[in-house]
Amino acid sequence: MKILVTGGLGFIGSHTVVELQNEGFEVVIVDNLSNSSVDVLQGIENITGKKPEFENLDLREKQSVQDFFKKYNDVSGVIHFAASKAVGESVENPLLYYENNINSLVYLLQELQRKNESSLIFSSSCTVFGQAEIMPITENAPVQKAMSPYGNTKQIGEEIIIDVSRVSSINAILLRYFNPIGAHESAEIGELPLGVPQNLVPFITQTAVGLRKELSVFGNDYPTPDGTAIRDYIHVVDLAKAHVIALKRLIEKKNIERVETFNIGTGKGSSVLEVIQSFQKVTNHKLPYKIVGRRDGDVVEAYADTQKANEILGWKAKLTLEDALSSAWKWEQKIRKVQ
Ligand code: NAD
Ligand code: WQD
Repeated sequence: MKILVTGGLGFIGSHTVVELQNEGFEVVIVDNLSNSSVDVLQGIENITGKKPEFENLDLREKQSVQDFFKKYNDVSGVIHFAASKAVGESVENPLLYYENNINSLVYLLQELQRKNESSLIFSSSCTVFGQAEIMPITENAPVQKAMSPYGNTKQIGEEIIIDVSRVSSINAILLRYFNPIGAHESAEIGELPLGVPQNLVPFITQTAVGLRKELSVFGNDYPTPDGTAIRDYIHVVDLAKAHVIALKRLIEKKNIERVETFNIGTGKGSSVLEVIQSFQKVTNHKLPYKIVGRRDGDVVEAYADTQKANEILGWKAKLTLEDALSSAWKWEQKIRKVQ
């Protein structure tokens, strides 16, 4: 069975391709390499023994999307990762984000609507909740006005899929990821942030490897036990596995609703200082850091209620924060060629 993975050379996409191939799925990746490298294909092959098919294609080009589906008329499911994801950049250049994240989704759905039957998994984000009032965050927590154009594209994306599912045979699962971190244990694939990382864990590993002088901790005056903000950090391999389970659910179609939503996290919140301490413990590396002011737009805390994903999807995170941090560190050392 052939699965289209858009953005399959990216961070979460590449780990998902590995899990799909390990489960016997055939994969065709579509990626325009805007935030990834073609070398990732080799990493995937080194882990799984198989190079997935790859089309270097920009999903913003409607004709190219149509041509793709003419060529690959045997695609039975789609996992749609391709999107731009930098929150700050989306504030500076909203149209780039609306064009990439919305147009690409629309062109993809136009092709899926033409098919008799189609299964779609969409990468959504806990960002749709903003600062939720109640922790942990269930799927029924209200979606709040987005704090950035990026966040808005995820909210609009979810709504577009719900609208289209009503008038087509598209079945979809919306996965709202919390904070994905880590890398494959083989260190063959991992996260490749462009420029200065905005996210905590890549900044930590780049600091530890000597690329950055010190980590700035954004705020220690939050109403949390140690004053730093709390997130639900999920190992990317656990997250990748959630996609395979969701895909099987769509294909088997057992008592599923047209569109289902799941929060994908560990259920456990960790503060910034806890992440630093944990990193220091698993790597035996002292991490230079200083406390600075809060970052605009940051929420105080966000962690998932995993009950629906555990019970209905049948998925549960198995790897720990320590596992994730040690894999991220192994990956960072490998790409910087540290012995
Ligand atoms: P990523 O940037 O590593 O991967 C995205 C991939 O899509 C890249 O390889 C990029 O080259 C490709 N791409 C982008 N626009 C494209 C286009 N127009 N045509 C073809 N390919 C295109 O990002 P990621 O961290 O793997 O995120 C994957 C998805 O998950 C995104 O939709 C993102 O918004 C969502 N998400 C990510 C996080 C996170 O923290 N990483 C959290 C929640 C949701
Ligand atoms: C985590 C914590 C920071 C960097 C972002 C997006 C969100 C989602 C996931 C896609 C926060 C603190 C960070 C640093 C720090 N992506 N921090 N120093 O902000 O939860 O979410 O990525 O959907 O939409 O907004 O993740 O990794 O940036 O930050 O102190 O140098 O680490 O303030 O408390 P965040 P993050």
